[in-house]
Amino acid sequence: MRNWATKILGATGEFDVLPTIGSKELVAWLPTILEAKTVLYPKVAYPTYLVGSMIHGAKAIPVDIDASTWPKSEMAWINSPSNPTGRVHSVEELQSVISYARSQNSLVVSDECYISFPAKGAAPVSILKLANGDNKNLIAVHSMSKRSNLAGYRAGLIVGDAEIIGQIREVRKHAGMMVPLPIQRAMTAALGDETHVAEQAERYSARREILSGALIKAGFQIDFSTAGLYIWCTRNESSWDSVAWLAGLGILATPGIFYGEAGAQHIRIAMTASDTQIKDAADRILKSL
Ligand SMILES: Cc1ncc(COP(=O)(O)O)c(C=O)c1O
Repeated sequence: MRNWATKILGATGEFDVLPTIGSKELVAWLPTILEAKTVLYPKVAYPTYLVGSMIHGAKAIPVDIDASTWPKSEMAWINSPSNPTGRVHSVEELQSVISYARSQNSLVVSDECYISFPAKGAAPVSILKLANGDNKNLIAVHSMSKRSNLAGYRAGLIVGDAEIIGQIREVRKHAGMMVPLPIQRAMTAALGDETHVAEQAERYSARREILSGALIKAGFQIDFSTAGLYIWCTRNESSWDSVAWLAGLGILATPGIFYGEAGAQHIRIAMTASDTQIKDAADRILKSL
């Protein structure tokens, strides 16, 4: 796992690695494990960042992307490529996040679980690569569920600040949050192969193109959605109306309101259905017009 962090994420300097039981449990329990009292999370975000703060009774503050506007906190989440928007942080935005972690002495946790599916032609950039060997207050979160379609294995990992990961390990081992050895072996095998990841990235990209074309013809505006697993789009109506329209065609989408108030007029469509199903969905949309 260390080799993968060095080779693929570009981590350098002192860092530690810890396997987790998928990344969702880590996201949900990290504020509790680290006793963080104030937690920042993106305004449009994967709901578990908020849930994790609620479990611990931490003050959760939704924030914009630009870290120079963030209030002081003990922990801040970023997620790039994003679920649900498919937005990718620019290098400048990541650097601003690193400056925040250093100047505020606050932990920044970068959820990079979709990093293996970057925008077409772009190289994925981990926050650890930009840290240039100084990983203090920085942790990157990764998941085998996304990278290698191993969701059922419940396998993830965190990489970064050795001291903080040491503290996390200490609490987790007393809470029984250990990853079984056979799963760790499977993780090592999957992390050692990039071919299947590149093939899957191609698949998502092809599906995105097919479905985006049909959605645009149906009057949707696609926002961000350059990377990761999702199309984030709007018809400037309530997200429930868009979901209902697609449901009428037998297509399942998620209302953007699930990810925060700012998503109230968007929907999220996942590229996880098969190639045939995606093509069928695009055909149904086009036929309905
Ligand atoms: C942004 C983000 N982080 C973490 C997870 C958790 O994934 P897993 O627990 O399967 O590793 C998900 C799953 O959808 C996600 O979208």
